[in-house]
Parts: sequence; structure tokens; C-alpha cells
Amino acid sequence: MLEIKDLEVSIEGEKIVKGVNLEVKPGEIHALMGPNGSGKSTLAHSLMGNPQYSIDAGKIIIDGEEVTDEEADERAEEGLFLAFQYPSEISGITVAEFLKEALDERRDEPMGSSEFREHLREKLDLLDMDDEYARRYLNEGFSGGEKKRNEILQMSVLEPKYTVLDEIDSGLDIDALKVVSEGINTVAEEQEIGLLMITHYQRILDYVKPDHVHVMVDGKIVESGGPELAHRLEDEGYDWAKEQAEM
Ligand SMILES: Nc1ncnc2c1ncn2[C@@H]1O[C@H](COP(=O)(O)OP(=O)(O)OP(=O)(O)O)[C@@H](O)[C@H]1O
Ligand SMILES: [Mg+2]
Repeated sequence: MLEIKDLEVSIEGEKIVKGVNLEVKPGEIHALMGPNGSGKSTLAHSLMGNPQYSIDAGKIIIDGEEVTDEEADERAEEGLFLAFQYPSEISGITVAEFLKEALDERRDEPMGSSEFREHLREKLDLLDMDDEYARRYLNEGFSGGEKKRNEILQMSVLEPKYTVLDEIDSGLDIDALKVVSEGINTVAEEQEIGLLMITHYQRILDYVKPDHVHVMVDGKIVESGGPELAHRLEDEGYDWAKEQAEM
């Protein structure tokens, strides 16, 4: 289980995450929603150990092991994954090479190349992606939707225990949203991943059905519930949640 306990995070001295508690079990899907600037991405980055974000209080525990003070790569080894929003400068490396490197970093010994090719082909098949895709250079001329698919491919290849997806649905067309959602469902189910999915829109939750929905306002989770909570936000907006946050 991924446990977040009373977590407080600040950036450049300003408190952004103000005491968050969350438990994500393997196989569970949690949606995290909330207005712009409420601290959702900050929470995601601090979970991954991004050094820009300083954890002032609280704990992050992965399967009983506290990782609050560990580096990002150690957390990855414990099985935590955040889809990389890798910068466009990474060029001259193919998707396959990138994935192999990322996978090997998480292993004691590098995977043999033929074993890796088989592993990769299996995942490409699973996500209904063409082999050609993995031979393309990372991010060079990838459309927004292709980058998103790539994130799901990463999740699938790396087989993490827990995954944070930050706005995986932004910028996807209606068909791509379906494809990416199916990919998430397939991978999450096959690998029993605990998923924390940050999103602004109920729409993706029609495809990737959350067990729990949380609303974050001003650095705190002000309400948790089932899928009906996302529908309520869609209908009513955040005013009521903001009022709740002020109480
Ligand atoms: N690197 C940074 N330096 C300074 N301030 C930051 C930084 N990152 C985030 N912030 C501030 O922290 C607050 C929370 O930002 P965050 O990105 O976590 O919000 P969010 O909930 O993900 O919003 P959105 O829905 O718009 O993605 C904002 O006020 C933002 O300006
Ligand atoms: Mg964000």
C-alpha cells in the first residue's frame, strides 16, 4: 500500500500542500481532482522525490517502507512511478532505448536485449501499438496524444506497483482518450497497479472507473467519496468545496 501521512510540502518557503492523508492499495484507482493551483501536481512531484519540493512534515510509505527522505530513483526502485513529462531536448534516443535504460535502472542487472525486445513487443501488443512506434526517436515529432500513449507504454514496460498520472487526459481527442483509457485499464488490471489519477474532468472517469475520488482545495483534501463525487463537481463546480475548505 502507498501511504501518504499528514504530508506538508513547500516550494521556495511557501506552503503548498498542507497536510494530506491518502492510502492507495494495489489494484485501486483513486482520482484526485481540484481547482487550478490547489497543489495536485505539487503532491505528485513530492511523492516522486523531486528535489525542488521540500517536504516539511509527514511521511510517504511504500509497502511499509518509509521513503520520505529517499531520492527519486530509490522510490522508483520501491515501485513508484510518475509518468515523466520529459523535456523535448532529449533527442537522439529511441523510445525503446529510453525504456530499456529506465527499466535497467530499476533492476539489479540489465535485462538481456532479446528478453527486452520480447517484453516490449508484448506491451506494445497489449496497448495495440505498432512496433514502429518504439523505433521512433523520443519526443521528436510526437503529437500530444502520442506522448500520452508513450506514458502508458512506460507504465506498462516498467511494471510499477503504484503510479501517479497527472492529467493524462489533457489534450487528447475523443478517440485517443478511449485508447489511452483502455491502455490504463488493461495495464492497471493485469499488473494490479495502485493508481492515483489527477484529472480535471469527469469524462475520463467514465472509462477509467475510480474506486475513490478526492477533492483537493488549497493544499488539503476537503472531501473524499465514490465516483458520484466527480459527477457532483461536473455539475456544481468547486464553490461548495472551497466553502468547505474555509470552514
Ligand atoms: N516550481 C514552483 N515554483 C513556485 N511556485 C510553484 C511551483 N510549482 C507550483 N507552484 C505554486 O504552487 C501552487 C500549486 O501548484 P500545482 O501545480 O501543484 O497546482 P495544481 O493543483 O496541479 O494546479 P493545476 O490544476 O492548474 O495543474 C500554485 O500556486 C503554483 O503557482
Ligand atoms: Mg497540475
